[in-house]
Amino acid sequence: MAFDLVFLGGTGDLAWRKLMPAVFQAFRHGALPPEGRVLASSREDLDRAGYCTWLRAKFDSLSWDEPFTDAEFQAFVGMLDYLRLDITKPEAHQALAEWVNQRSAESVVIYLAVAPALFGGLVTGLGRVGLNDRRVRVVLEKPLGYDLASATAINDAVSAVLQEYQIFRIDHYLGKQSVQNLMALRFGNSLFEPLWRREWIENVQITIAEDLGVEQRGGYYDRSGGALRDMMQNHMLQLLCMVAMEPPASEDADAVRDEKLKVLRSLKPLTVADVASNVIRGQYRAGRIQGGTVPGYREEEGVAANSTTETFVALRAEIQNWRWAGVPFFLRTGKRLAQRTADIVVNFRAVPHPIFAGPAGYQNRLVIRLQPEDSIELDLLAKASNRSKSEQGRLVPVSLNLDFKEAFGTQTIEAYERLLRKVLAGRLDLFVRFDEQQAAWRYVAPIIEAWSSDPESLRMYNAGSWGPPASSGLLARDGAAWPEER
Ligand code: BG6
Repeated sequence: MAFDLVFLGGTGDLAWRKLMPAVFQAFRHGALPPEGRVLASSREDLDRAGYCTWLRAKFDSLSWDEPFTDAEFQAFVGMLDYLRLDITKPEAHQALAEWVNQRSAESVVIYLAVAPALFGGLVTGLGRVGLNDRRVRVVLEKPLGYDLASATAINDAVSAVLQEYQIFRIDHYLGKQSVQNLMALRFGNSLFEPLWRREWIENVQITIAEDLGVEQRGGYYDRSGGALRDMMQNHMLQLLCMVAMEPPASEDADAVRDEKLKVLRSLKPLTVADVASNVIRGQYRAGRIQGGTVPGYREEEGVAANSTTETFVALRAEIQNWRWAGVPFFLRTGKRLAQRTADIVVNFRAVPHPIFAGPAGYQNRLVIRLQPEDSIELDLLAKASNRSKSEQGRLVPVSLNLDFKEAFGTQTIEAYERLLRKVLAGRLDLFVRFDEQQAAWRYVAPIIEAWSSDPESLRMYNAGSWGPPASSGLLARDGAAWPEER
């Protein structure tokens, strides 16, 4: 099948760190039909050969699980082209249309890896030159706006030109292997479903911790980011949906998205007054990570010296429906934390009447780990068989561990590759519908509002820690603790 894959923002960070490597990997894995073409476009003064040389240098600076050969790279760039365009100008849309119309591909994917402020004008321009016919699919990279109003404005502009089946809103966490496996665990097996409810589950904790800081994105992050907008409104709430949604009627995109939307709409709304007791925001100061000293957020390039942008957020959410009423969902994410890890921990209730000696109040827990490795782990108590006399007869914690690398080998697919393959196949199941984004923005709006009038609520934490101590206090009220504190 002939396809054209166009990347606008072709020299941006996202393009060389994630997107081009993903296309290259898809190519190496034989997932790209040979008659496809890939176009990168940006304002940089490059030609095709110059872009290929630039890309090669960037690829060489990345670390690859599957190292590539020169021959593979050369074969890949055989399908690559470059156009220097200023996409804010109508001539650029025309030039793009001419490139696409050199032949008639069966699908034309246009990936907008550019600032969201450009989305509306750009899509309108594409519509004017006819790049919105049935073959065209447009991928919108997050963030889709800055708040509900700006997200709605972008969406209105995009939907005026494209049909919903043509719009692929990326949340790359949905492309991660473990998220796929969470769906498989819940809806491909009968084991957990009867237990997956308030009667058996005491709380759920979702963590996305990064050890990196803001890297080269300080300026952008400080003005338009912050952990709430960058991670919570999208990745974290999507993960919460995956844990909490009802079984969809099928695997179809809308069947899944309808169920996620119901979760988002069932979140107990926070009032501005609730925010102080249910949401903690923090910002890193200088500290030590893995033996090295790192600067504080306010010392990062592009960040204002008195910035109040949060690099950490922890949140206590509740879902108002029959399955989850009264079960707290604790969500936290932050930069410059102790280690890079992402997991979903489901804590089951303790046994109602313990008859064995063992750890008091022990809870079984299921850990779905997304990073650094994919795994699913079930923690149980068992009788120790060969322990010292003092431990004989006592119950001790053990874990059943499903390591996906061990089970399926190391040939995994990265999130962006999986998502790009889905776009090429025209499948929307791992992409977000606008009503989901709208509901997520509505949920976080009171937090944005509360923080804007309360600069004092920002708490500092040392780089290399697990965030402000108040984040532990948030759980302590419910008698819970984050995994590293157990
Ligand atoms: C992006 C955020 O969406 O996700 C970044 O904008 C963040 O700030 C990144 O670093 C984390 O993704 P991953 O896949 O490395 O956990």
